[in-house]
Amino acid sequence: MSNLIDGKAVSAAVLEECRKEVAALKARGVTPGLAVVLVGEDPASQVYVGSKVRTCGDLGIYSRKIELPTETTQEELLRVVATLNADPAIDGILVQSPPPPHIDEEAVIRAISPAKDVDGFHPENVAKLALEDASGFVPCTPAGCMRLLREAGVETRGANVVVIGRSMIVGKPMALLLMAKGADATVTVAHSRSRDLAGICRQADILVAAVGRPEMVKADWVKEGAVVIDVGINRVEDASRKSGFRLTGDVAFDEVAPKCKAITPVPGGVGPMTIAMLMKNTIVAAGRR
Ligand code: GUN
Repeated sequence: MSNLIDGKAVSAAVLEECRKEVAALKARGVTPGLAVVLVGEDPASQVYVGSKVRTCGDLGIYSRKIELPTETTQEELLRVVATLNADPAIDGILVQSPPPPHIDEEAVIRAISPAKDVDGFHPENVAKLALEDASGFVPCTPAGCMRLLREAGVETRGANVVVIGRSMIVGKPMALLLMAKGADATVTVAHSRSRDLAGICRQADILVAAVGRPEMVKADWVKEGAVVIDVGINRVEDASRKSGFRLTGDVAFDEVAPKCKAITPVPGGVGPMTIAMLMKNTIVAAGRR
């Protein structure tokens, strides 16, 4: 039996739920709407934004893709956000990260109406997550990781979980979700400056890698029988590919997988879940209209 956690299959099931929820909303006269804003020309971001918009189309969610040039000023971007905040056809607003360096991302996130912040990055939603107040929005990638653990039948209660990475997009919200009542995990958040990172990781029953360094987690970092969730999506040069690169996770999959009870592949693990949970959040936002 395979120990692979199939993110494509789980995300397909989530998207099927979404399709039914969209139909129910439309029967009430509500079409969920998502605006995706991309500033600049980062190729990976272009791919992600394209997938988000395409998935909206598949589900019958209205979407608006707003592509702005790299030179877009902070003021121009804030005006776009203000317009979307006031637009009744838009339930969710997402500004793709990372923006160009001259943009103050923190200020842009604060400008998004918390009720339309389907990324769950606004301080109000971050606070609600910490408070375990379900009226907020949970960031999509960690929400997707939690759903994968649940679908794979992984018990988090009382488990030692190590999260590598302390980003606001993944590491911190992931730690909060795992600590929350119901999940009840014992959580350690480690990062690039942690002393004896390998030793910390070896304690983990569940290891969540979200550092953005290709294949950093080696076989001797992982306890026999651990569950490994690989959040990394790294582009590494590969001359044998037409694109010139291949995608790899933060985990050295080939050497780590044989030791694991269960592991997510890259691609096809966490990645598809992020988009599925974004659709969920957009539908929730529309339902609260
Ligand atoms: N960049 C990488 N992941 C994400 C995400 O979940 N949301 C946004 N807005 N940007 C991202």
